[in-house]
Amino acid sequence: MLKIAVLVSGDGSNLQAIIDSIENGYLNCSIEAVISDNIKSFALQRATKKGIPIYVFPKKEFGESIGDEILKVVKGNVDILVLAGFLSLLKGEILKKFEGKIINIHPSLIPLFCGKGMYGEKVHESVLKSGVKITGCTVHFVDEKVDGGAIILQKAVPVYFEDDVKTLKERVLEEEHKILPEALKLLSENKIFIKDGKVQIV
Ligand code: GAR
Repeated sequence: MLKIAVLVSGDGSNLQAIIDSIENGYLNCSIEAVISDNIKSFALQRATKKGIPIYVFPKKEFGESIGDEILKVVKGNVDILVLAGFLSLLKGEILKKFEGKIINIHPSLIPLFCGKGMYGEKVHESVLKSGVKITGCTVHFVDEKVDGGAIILQKAVPVYFEDDVKTLKERVLEEEHKILPEALKLLSENKIFIKDGKVQIV
């Protein structure tokens, strides 16, 4: 069984999608820890409700060393780290120790609307401002480049003239909640390989 830790900063709807996918038998995974950089993250309540151990390393207190603290929690206990709306950057040793074993969900079609400072609702604001008619979401591996690792899965979502941030965010989240569990399922079945910086699904 794949052992995962889920890193969160906010509402935790993607964490909930993983929990639900485990409970309905779609995913053969166990969540060993939910880790947050934000004590106010509602995701922590979702985890506690299910008896999942939680760890909090507030961003203000830990800053760039957050990766080292997380590494202490997960080293030897966890196969995959899942960034599900986690808004701190991971740096240093953790990226080496978990190379090819950290995935992230991003609310746009990478390489569009991503990179430093582009997260959460800011992404949808930029999408709406640009006038594009299609956006989406991406699950990708995490490396030292912000939103730069190999792309695992993407799903396109239409953008309507009438959309505001709330309606667009909801439509994109609906697809995020499908592709994040799907990527984890593929990983748990050893169906994902990285070749020349690109993902092959077998
Ligand atoms: C999601 O839309 C996720 O893609 C985004 O934050 C939201 C978290 O929602 N992540 C990023 O922007 C990372 N660059 P959730 O807390 O309800 O899962």
